[in-house]
Amino acid sequence: MLFMATCSFGLEKVVFDELKKLGIWIEHKKDGHVFFSGEIDAMYRANLWLRTADKVFLVLKQTKAIDTFEKLFEAVYELPWPDLLRGESTFPVLVKSKKSKLTSTPACQSIVKKAIVKKLQTVYPETTFPESGEEMVIQCWLENDELIVAINTSGEGLHRRGYRQNALHTETPMRENLAAALVNLSGWEKEMPLYDPFCGTGTILLEAAMIAYNIAPGLGRFFAFEKWKMCDTDEWEKVRKVALESRDETTKVTLIGSDQSHEQISLSLENIQTLDIPPIKLFDQDIRKVSLEGVGFKPTSTIEKGMIVTNPPYGIKSDAKDIEEIYQALARRYHAWKGISWHIFTAYENIEKVFGQEAKKRRKLYNGGIKCYLYSF
Ligand SMILES: C[S@@+](CC[C@H](N)C(=O)[O-])C[C@H]1O[C@@H](n2cnc3c(N)ncnc32)[C@H](O)[C@@H]1O
Repeated sequence: MLFMATCSFGLEKVVFDELKKLGIWIEHKKDGHVFFSGEIDAMYRANLWLRTADKVFLVLKQTKAIDTFEKLFEAVYELPWPDLLRGESTFPVLVKSKKSKLTSTPACQSIVKKAIVKKLQTVYPETTFPESGEEMVIQCWLENDELIVAINTSGEGLHRRGYRQNALHTETPMRENLAAALVNLSGWEKEMPLYDPFCGTGTILLEAAMIAYNIAPGLGRFFAFEKWKMCDTDEWEKVRKVALESRDETTKVTLIGSDQSHEQISLSLENIQTLDIPPIKLFDQDIRKVSLEGVGFKPTSTIEKGMIVTNPPYGIKSDAKDIEEIYQALARRYHAWKGISWHIFTAYENIEKVFGQEAKKRRKLYNGGIKCYLYSF
């Protein structure tokens, strides 16, 4: 079976490496997509364990030269829909088209839907389908007239881990899979003390904790495939059981967070409780007043380095003078606190000027459509 993990631009290599670590066979990658193959358990494990991907799809077809509605209909009709869908299944269709002759996505969606209904009618006597049962979202991509037909096995995005219900009420939540990617790209290892001085709801620290304690990110949520006809419940339960038994809290991990907002710190505490992980040191403090002693951020004797991974405000909702002062406060601490590596994710483009030096690495990533960089100093 062929599967595809989708991700934000710039994270393909990170997702590729995660799949490799899971022992899953990778076919190839392109912008925003990593293709992999295996039996159904590869899909279960990818959904349960991938920290940085958006969704996992089962690829039903990949074919070139789909440049007319007739060809689109035929390509979709050929697929074994009665094996995948029940008579009452709900099957919304989404189409994305890029650089292709078939540009009207509503028209393509209606053709794809028609082809599926026609095929189902060869097995089910209904003339119309109630679509009242479990949902299987059918997603088609057309790019340079090449068609991919796939089904979304994850359901809602993999960033929805289930531990951050309260993020819905906050102003500046960061997606969990982006936070995990920042931790991954920073090169953090669980023996290093990690500090986030703008921790907000604690996403970066919580993702680091889940990595350190080997907690599968998908254990607290539901996946679309669980209700499908093709889901092998016993096999899925086995994969979940292995994940539950993999949790390991024996290593002592030093995670520290601060934020000027008391409310945000309270939300972080709620999230820690939901995940039921060992305590994380949290305090409310404006960065302009934070001292190294206050953080208690001492690089350990075994690992020379400590690390800061953080996502400061960058001006969309804050006043420009405030923003400048925040980055100046960070720069002063960067120069004064020795032996610590800094990884700052921001859209604030003056950061290198304020720090008075070029970043060692600058990685372009998107945060909800906003172009940002992860600056590593
Ligand atoms: C972009 S958000 C970080 C979101 C966070 N990564 C999360 O997962 O929720 C920036 C955070 O910086 C905090 N903040 C703003 N100005 C600050 C300051 N001067 N000192 C410390 N924290 C500040 C805000 O309260 C907000 O939580």
